[in-house]
Amino acid sequence: MRVNDQDMRTIWERDGVVEIIDQRFLPHELKIIALETLEDARAAIADMKVRGAPCIGATAMYGMAVSVRNDSSDAAIKTAYETLNASRPTAVNLKWAIDECMKAMDGVPEPEKADILFAMSAKNCDDDAQMCSNIGDYGKTLLDEIAKNKDGLENEQVINVLTHCNAGWMATVDWGTAISPIYKAFNAGMNVHVWVDETRPRSQGARLTAWELEQHGVPYTVITDNSGGHLMQHGLVDICFVGTDRTTATGDVCNKIGTYLKALAAFDNNVPFYVCAPSNSIDWDMQDGLREIPIEVRSGEQEVGWITGRDEDGVIRRVTTMPDPAKTRNDAFDVTPRKYITGLITERGISAANKAALLALFPEKA
Ligand code: MRU
Repeated sequence: MRVNDQDMRTIWERDGVVEIIDQRFLPHELKIIALETLEDARAAIADMKVRGAPCIGATAMYGMAVSVRNDSSDAAIKTAYETLNASRPTAVNLKWAIDECMKAMDGVPEPEKADILFAMSAKNCDDDAQMCSNIGDYGKTLLDEIAKNKDGLENEQVINVLTHCNAGWMATVDWGTAISPIYKAFNAGMNVHVWVDETRPRSQGARLTAWELEQHGVPYTVITDNSGGHLMQHGLVDICFVGTDRTTATGDVCNKIGTYLKALAAFDNNVPFYVCAPSNSIDWDMQDGLREIPIEVRSGEQEVGWITGRDEDGVIRRVTTMPDPAKTRNDAFDVTPRKYITGLITERGISAANKAALLALFPEKA
């Protein structure tokens, strides 16, 4: 997507050097760093320099590649697999990516393993971008439908989409999942406006979704995490698009904490609630999202207790709004049961959130 009028992805390789955008500094600074070791890749994922399920997967795959280039012994490969697998627990794309690496190296002579992984990582980035682009095309058809139904009504031109966290291109390699339909609609000249949930505690909405929409010129408004239900009650949300870190084979969706509350509000207000789900974020082995999906719990003291931002003088500061000491809790994801989900937008089309419909789109997973 466009950054300062130039095309950019979240991760790329140039002359053997893997680089990422360190997303912790956005929107105030666009910082690019190299991943040269297994530890660089582990820290990039665990410390959320990269985040968002598909972007985590792409980074983990390149992490395996750089690690194997540095040491291709069986013991080092096992360590790399285990280290990356433990870096963040919820997004299934991570395990999918490193499992693909293990499969690709099976039976390959040691000196050739790294080259195979580098080629595979580059292809994965292209495939990921293509999947997200397809999701955008399918998602746009829903916006086209809304536009048709609004025809002749007051304010007919504006389609209001609510999104949570960042499931834009920053969360993937390119295009994004939940924001991809919005980019496609905007690029086609549709008058679309995005309600951007702030998404505390790490403010991925206010920091990242707002930044990338701003860069692309898409109209948006940042709202507090508590506002969505109120806006829906007043007819100000036409549709919700969110991402997913892990979708079960039965259609339950685990996404950034707070997604569930938006789904409940959407359900109560008859607002369509769609989850944009590339197939590598579907866990075909899981059936019951609430019981089976591992939910990451991050440091409450660090992330709920403190917030970082730019002050009026332009200085980046970390401040707290709480008494010292205040008890905190920081579950990073929640599960939205399938009954609240209008549909799943995959790279192969739009599916109802249930097993039969998903398998109709992905029969090879039966
Ligand atoms: O903790 P994060 O920032 O990695 O969480 C990101 C999300 O929850 C996204 O919505 C999800 O990964 C889907 S990304 C296309």
